Amino acid sequence: MNEDIRYCDGALQVEGVNLADIAARVGTPFYAYSAAAIQRRYKAFHDAFADLDALICFALKANGNQAVLTLLAQAGAGADVVSEGELRRALAAGIAPEKIVFSGVGKSAEEVAFALEKGILCLNVESLSELHMISEIATRMGVTARLSVRINPDVDPKTHVKLTTGKSGTKFGIAWDEALDFFATAAQLPNVSLTGIDTHIGSQITNLPAFDAAFGRLVELVQTLRAAGHVVDHMDLGGGLGVAYGDGVDEAALLAEYAEIVHRHFAGLGCRMLLEPGRFITANAGVFVTKVLHMKPTAQKHYVVVDGAMNDLIRPTMYDALHEVLPVIPSDGAPVLSDIVGPVCEPGDFLAKDRALACGQGDLLALMGAGAYGAVLSGTYNARPLVAEVMVHGADWDVVRPRQSIEALIAQDTVPAWLNGGEDGSL
Ligand code: LLP
Repeated sequence: MNEDIRYCDGALQVEGVNLADIAARVGTPFYAYSAAAIQRRYKAFHDAFADLDALICFALKANGNQAVLTLLAQAGAGADVVSEGELRRALAAGIAPEKIVFSGVGKSAEEVAFALEKGILCLNVESLSELHMISEIATRMGVTARLSVRINPDVDPKTHVKLTTGKSGTKFGIAWDEALDFFATAAQLPNVSLTGIDTHIGSQITNLPAFDAAFGRLVELVQTLRAAGHVVDHMDLGGGLGVAYGDGVDEAALLAEYAEIVHRHFAGLGCRMLLEPGRFITANAGVFVTKVLHMKPTAQKHYVVVDGAMNDLIRPTMYDALHEVLPVIPSDGAPVLSDIVGPVCEPGDFLAKDRALACGQGDLLALMGAGAYGAVLSGTYNARPLVAEVMVHGADWDVVRPRQSIEALIAQDTVPAWLNGGEDGSL
């Protein structure tokens, strides 16, 4: 629970707005974000590194809604993007190109050209092939590409296997003992300036010694590179800091510990620091609200069937994620151990399992911590339209993405002309 999303007078509120009032207007399911929570969390993260030469580049993949990005742009945030689409989103929200880094293992030639044309801060390179491609494109365009190389420090962040990126045997980055050769190669290539290293070891990390180990390796690497005559003037630490999912994790303590580790390794290194938090900024600034359609007691289990499903919030089934489930209006009924499941025709379609919950048909449930990797990961499986997103601001709220209509969903497809002649009975 946090100060921006909490019970007040017997109803779950985001800032000054009852979630039930939003549901009455936009229907369910929907995502709701607290503007104050996003600002508060960005400020806390920013302030933890304020004494370093640091830029906070919000990882758009966590939440790419233009309202969220505009809020963060106005707070001074930069952006970490991984596609031309995300780059265009960041620019459209008013984030200056010189505050944008482009990460990702598979940038296309078109994406690189677009990023160079816009003059972004840095491209984070992940392979020799990409390095050569960028050099060729930059030469053709007559510009110099600012680069860093992503280092895979081979450290186990002890998070979910699908959130682990900093171990060898994953597709990410280049091995840290190959970095010297990589810099030497880059030094021979035209129109590239490789003067930084970056990393991202995984996501939802609450085991902070993993950062300690990874950062230690990076500092060693900087010393080796400098001793060999290379300039290393910026250091991008990626994202990954974990959040609380109703499990008692103390986020403020986690941030303080993370900041201490960062300071200990990098304060004296003379590098500009870039950080790419995603989840920490928006996860606990958002909720996913769904309505109970049916109560379904069976011999084995008690199911609460809701109108939200895996296509709307895939984290439980994809990452075994545990989102806290709270009734929007708590009842005094006896809690029943239940699985909260959606209408999608797959056994993997569940939002939560084995939760003690008192609710009934028509009640609203809120899945907490849904402001990161929620709406962005949603799809239209089972021809379920994309849900609405709203942003609360004090006692006001706005729809920041309307619910997709079924008509619009169908209209995305086109039927080839040769099929438009009507039934000819030939089969
Ligand atoms: N930088 C890079 C290069 C990344 O790949 C990521 C996340 C971030 C920053 C931000 O990490 P964060 O601070 O949010 O942990 N869909 C998954 C999370 C995937 C994270 C992928 N990379 C989930 O729902 O848990």
